[in-house]
Amino acid sequence: MARDRSTYRCQECGLAAPKPGSLAATRPQPIGEIRVEAGGQRTSSGMAELDRVLGGGVVTGSLVLIGGDPGIGKSTLLLQVSRQLAERAGPVLYVSGEESAAQVKLRADRLGSAPAGLYFVAETDLLAVEAHVTALQPRFLIVDSIQTVYLPGLESAPGSVSQVRECGARLMALAKGRGIATFLVGHVTKEGAIAGPRVLEHLVDAVLTFEGDRGQSLRTLRSAKNRFGGTAELGVFEMKARGLVEVADASRLFLADRHVGVPGSAVGCLLEGRRAVALEIQSLVAPNDGPHPRRVAHGLERERLEVLAAVLQQRARIDLSKSDVFVRVAGGFRADEPAVDLALALALASSVTGAPVPPDLVAIGEVGLAGDVRAVPGIGTRLGECARLGFRRAVVGRSVSVPDGLKVHAVAELGDALGLLVRA
Ligand code: TYD
Ligand code: MG
Repeated sequence: MARDRSTYRCQECGLAAPKPGSLAATRPQPIGEIRVEAGGQRTSSGMAELDRVLGGGVVTGSLVLIGGDPGIGKSTLLLQVSRQLAERAGPVLYVSGEESAAQVKLRADRLGSAPAGLYFVAETDLLAVEAHVTALQPRFLIVDSIQTVYLPGLESAPGSVSQVRECGARLMALAKGRGIATFLVGHVTKEGAIAGPRVLEHLVDAVLTFEGDRGQSLRTLRSAKNRFGGTAELGVFEMKARGLVEVADASRLFLADRHVGVPGSAVGCLLEGRRAVALEIQSLVAPNDGPHPRRVAHGLERERLEVLAAVLQQRARIDLSKSDVFVRVAGGFRADEPAVDLALALALASSVTGAPVPPDLVAIGEVGLAGDVRAVPGIGTRLGECARLGFRRAVVGRSVSVPDGLKVHAVAELGDALGLLVRA
């Protein structure tokens, strides 16, 4: 293929850009005078949980990669989104290289009746996809998945790095050139990388990851990259018999089955973007005289558990050296924030002593190696959420502003927080 000498082609993704010396078409201008074109327009996906993660809706002409384990619900999510977008601002073209029209129809029927503006095609040849786009002129395009489409001119197989790279670059050109918001599905491999699609991460505008434990109904959507918004926001869904259901009130979901008054349970509060999420930490401590007691953590980093066990031992005389320790975050959520340290410490201490954490108490704070309890960011948002949920007391590193109806125990030392456990 003869290449235009005035263009530079990216080795990573094949994207073409003008070479230095051939830039006469561009003109630097004062940044204050730049007008934002219609390319920045957003359409609501009809799912507030997705809109929030995208930074406020689907951006016209954007290219978004959605990665996740096979079977986690990516196709279900995008089919639901397609229905909503078709109703609001169709047409939408859903291209599947994974499922037949009949299979997708069956899935769509489970989700309810399909709107007129939603088109489906089972296709893997990217040139055919481009022809369909030219004919249909959709405003939204779904390619499920990027590993199944291919360019006939390339010798490598669909899903190979060069196919994914070329197809991604062409779909990018299509999205930008025609202002079509495009979602690409990418399957994740066992190693945890978005296989093949990894090479697209620097090309696309946003990378979303859809996660969850397949044995549980909880699904979370996060962004690893977003040119049109932050990456801190979280979307929460539940996989039900009739598709994904948005969870606007995640705290209530996580606390629904809480066992109050039982030793080993404590409630903490995370900050996910602008939203605070309260959740229950459960622990179980069982005697083990052996040389290597077990430390098992689900939904928490094991290292955090080990550090806190040592801090409790050295700073609060709570001996876990002859015990197996199991902890989990109820509901299948991940709590990777230091702010859950204090709730974890209370849960562990409660297990060891048999004294339950008071049911109306929430614990929010980072615990240092000296046994010191530290303030965490966004304490006002977190306390507000806990007050809304009916908690009456909070133990924190340092109080800022306190919502009505909530008594705040600001403590400096872990030992002071442990004093709040209910003694039998
Ligand atoms: P799917 O969207 O096909 O996953 P992916 O595209 O990420 O591979 O969803 C897979 C699972 O979701 C499948 O095992 C069945 C389940 N499911 C439901 O529980 N309810 C539903 O309404 C649908 C459509 C799927
Ligand atoms: Mg699928």
